[in-house]
Amino acid sequence: MYNKKVLDVFANPKNVGSMPDANGVGTAGNASCGDIMKVYLKIEDDVIKDASFETFGCAAAIASSSVATEMIKGLTTSQAEAIKNSEVVEVLEGLPPQKIHCSVLAEEAIHAALSDYKCKRKETE
Ligand code: FES
Repeated sequence: MYNKKVLDVFANPKNVGSMPDANGVGTAGNASCGDIMKVYLKIEDDVIKDASFETFGCAAAIASSSVATEMIKGLTTSQAEAIKNSEVVEVLEGLPPQKIHCSVLAEEAIHAALSDYKCKRKETE
């Protein structure tokens, strides 16, 4: 069902695990399948210095998490906010139509982590 690129990323995902010193953490869940993705961000001077994830989900969700966290490292928060799941799918060289929603989890979890960062920053201002 998956192409070679997806299977390769799934077999060797990058950025797996929690991040104790993250200053932005966000979770997204997929109601239809019950899968969950949590994204951790370390942001300094508005730039994403590090990103990691914990995903309880299918191969497409794990591959999407790996690619998305790689894509946002080094971006500003507004650049990261603009990342779309379609760009994640493009890097993965495509996902089966019934698995596109799995890549949406990555976009949503990143947005949630960026919102968390912004809320925390407001609290300390
Ligand atoms: Fe649930 Fe892929 S089937 S995230």
